[in-house]
Amino acid sequence: MWSTSKYLLLAAVVVCLSACFRLYSQLSSLNISTLIHHQFKARAPPPTISFYKPSLQWPPAACHGTLSCKPPIPSNFTIHGIWPQDRNDEPIPPYNKNNPCTPKTPTPPTNLPIKLRPIEVYLMSEWPNLTDGLNLTANYQFWEYEWKKHGTCSDYPDDPLTYFKSAVKLRLGISTIVRFGRQTSWTVKQVADEVFDVLKAYPEIACNLNPRGTQKQLWEIRLCYDRPNPRQTPHILINCTHILHVRKGKIIGPCKSLSDTIFFP
Ligand SMILES: *[C@@H]1O[C@H](CO)[C@@H](O)[C@H](O)[C@H]1NC(C)=O
Ligand SMILES: *[C@@H]1O[C@H](CO)[C@@H](O)[C@H](O)[C@H]1NC(C)=O
Ligand SMILES: *[C@@H]1O[C@H](CO)[C@@H](O)[C@H](O)[C@H]1NC(C)=O
Ligand SMILES: *[C@@H]1O[C@H](CO)[C@@H](O)[C@H](O)[C@H]1NC(C)=O
Ligand SMILES: *[C@@H]1O[C@H](CO)[C@@H](O)[C@H](O)[C@H]1NC(C)=O
Repeated sequence: MWSTSKYLLLAAVVVCLSACFRLYSQLSSLNISTLIHHQFKARAPPPTISFYKPSLQWPPAACHGTLSCKPPIPSNFTIHGIWPQDRNDEPIPPYNKNNPCTPKTPTPPTNLPIKLRPIEVYLMSEWPNLTDGLNLTANYQFWEYEWKKHGTCSDYPDDPLTYFKSAVKLRLGISTIVRFGRQTSWTVKQVADEVFDVLKAYPEIACNLNPRGTQKQLWEIRLCYDRPNPRQTPHILINCTHILHVRKGKIIGPCKSLSDTIFFP
């Protein structure tokens, strides 16, 4: 009798220990970081749009650098893109379905030819792919690229027509950006002051190099527009944060100082 109850006790202890061990291993595999990850989705939230930065390129400089362009090369500033920026002047990243910037489903790039049909003729003249500006297919490749990179997390992820129109409208609203003639040289600061004189807001200036890498050129003038609320397209010019492009604290591009001399081809 005495030995039976001893065995029963031992069995009870074994059952209890194995249950405890199973509970423990379940708990330890479900560690705190997995819990937070799955239940509270504690990822960095996508950044909010603070302002829009349309980037205007000077085709004679863009085409006398790394791009090779089919003529005719436009001799007015054309749109490179319109970029939503956060309050630190960093670009809003493209749509990522694992950390979506919007509950809306962004329009797929393949739908752009249908959506942009009504403004195609304006896009062709104001926003050409300079490599082959009269080629509609090449232009759509450029617009699709810009849409994926900068449009899908703009204020209009499912409305590319409004997104592209907003840039065209801003571009057509500016008849003069700089008043100096071609084939002249200026410092970066002089160019910025000239834009301020004309538009009453400081731009960001981007340079590129000529093909031999011997001369800095005025490649792009980028303007900054306030975004008072998401329902209005950008229209209030503000000073850009930096005259030279800064990313994560570092100046980007061949121009490193406001006193650098740049050629306006
Ligand atoms: C917790 O789980 C995550 C994801 O499964 C894993 O990467 C991490 O190393 C685990 N941490 C610990 C302390 O077990
Ligand atoms: C237009 O561009 C597309 C895409 O780059 C290219 O495949 C096609 O050959 C070009 N058409 C002409 C007429 O050059
Ligand atoms: C512009 O057009 C060229 C020639 O068709 C093409 O190779 C290039 O990818 C296009 N640019 C962009 C950014 O899509
Ligand atoms: C820029 O030049 C092109 C070609 O001459 C023209 O179609 C377009 O309207 C001009 N854009 C502006 C804003 O002046
Ligand atoms: C832009 O900066 C200039 C010079 O610092 C200043 O005078 C002007 O008021 C600013 N404009 C805006 C719209 O903030």
